[in-house]
Amino acid sequence: MRVLLVGAGGREHALAWALSASPLIGRLWVAPGNPGTAELAENVLIAPTDIPALVAFAARESVDLVVPGPEAPLALGLADACAAAGLRCFGPTRAAAALETSKSFMKEVAEAAGVPTARWAAFDDPAAARAHLACVGAPVVVKADGLAAGKGVVVATTLAEAEEALADAMERGLHGEAGRRVVIEECLAGEEVSFFALCDGTDALPFAAAADHKRVGEGDTGPNTGGMGAYSPPPAFTPALQAEVMRRMIRPTLAEMARRGTPFRGVLFAGLMLAADGPKLLEYNVRFGDPETQAMLPRLRSDLLSAMLAACDGELARFDLRWSAEASLAVVLAARGYPAAPETGSVIEGVEDAAATPGALLFHAGTRRDADGTLRAAGGRVLTVVGTGPDLRAARDAAYAAVDRIRWPGGFCRRDIGARALG
Ligand code: AMP
Ligand code: GLY
Repeated sequence: MRVLLVGAGGREHALAWALSASPLIGRLWVAPGNPGTAELAENVLIAPTDIPALVAFAARESVDLVVPGPEAPLALGLADACAAAGLRCFGPTRAAAALETSKSFMKEVAEAAGVPTARWAAFDDPAAARAHLACVGAPVVVKADGLAAGKGVVVATTLAEAEEALADAMERGLHGEAGRRVVIEECLAGEEVSFFALCDGTDALPFAAAADHKRVGEGDTGPNTGGMGAYSPPPAFTPALQAEVMRRMIRPTLAEMARRGTPFRGVLFAGLMLAADGPKLLEYNVRFGDPETQAMLPRLRSDLLSAMLAACDGELARFDLRWSAEASLAVVLAARGYPAAPETGSVIEGVEDAAATPGALLFHAGTRRDADGTLRAAGGRVLTVVGTGPDLRAARDAAYAAVDRIRWPGGFCRRDIGARALG
């Protein structure tokens, strides 16, 4: 099999690691990849948003499967362009990707499918939105409808804060077009879990769950980030809860998407709130999570490539996945100043020592190598270090033992990943 993986982050390094271990793999390219993927695959210098160039490359190289990592290429129609060129793509069409690219669309589908989710209303008119806020009061959640680089959601504890978020999005254009429409939502409380299911348009197969630490600071404080760490499996997410989520959320959503003529293929990422009265859907993403993927894939005992092919070919009903009983925990190392203004260019040493730590794996994200091999920071989230072990505590110990071998004064990480589950 000839596979083209699209993306450049830690998630993509982990996907490349799993795909390159497949007994089916022939050649693996990553566009554009990073210094980590370069050790496992061939990096090709094509931007994940350059759909024509990606499709032309895949066609020229007779690629058997295109695997989009991030949402951007899906939102731009990579899966549609692949289909038009007769190429298989493990990801939804642009229309089906609206589950992530439009929060109001997601809520409409959830409502039609009877999926438990926060009460909501969508607004295009700031005055009407303001009146609604005054009516529901705080706490309340204000969301830019479109893709806003993870910055479009404000969980407001006061009405003033909610009104500010509304003005930022609808009147000051803080998120550009993505914020002209807002969704105002009931604020839910509980523990958050990221759950992933593989989908083939008709059938869905549970993949795995992880819990992600979104805030930059220890004790889950400070600004939101893409994710500072994750652990898998989250102890609170029992097999019974997983079965309930499959039955009440994932399968009805797939059925509703198929009914609308936009069947969903790829991986459906359900952001869940485990509320006192049962799991509620916070959001859908149409791709794997970062850093959840780095935490989940080391536990996968089945062949990822076979599973992706089964999803593309409508054969998930006959597919099964095996998982290790081990736990894993991922720690993100970020450049100083992340998320507001990461400082790039600083030298990172010790990654080989970290990767050689027993029970540990190291994935690159925003790194680059000089011609002489010197590794430097080249982004916000720079490395993910994953520990595995018989339980979460052992996984955490392995992860931080590896982190401690990295010498990088220009970077930082949270020291409390997993604390929510471990105390
Ligand atoms: P999103 O960008 O939709 O993932 O939202 C970012 C974060 O906002 C989520 O991970 C939650 O922590 C929080 N959030 C989103 N919706 C709600 C809600 N209805 N109630 C409470 N928190 C929420
Ligand atoms: N870690 C959350 C995400 O990938 O969106």
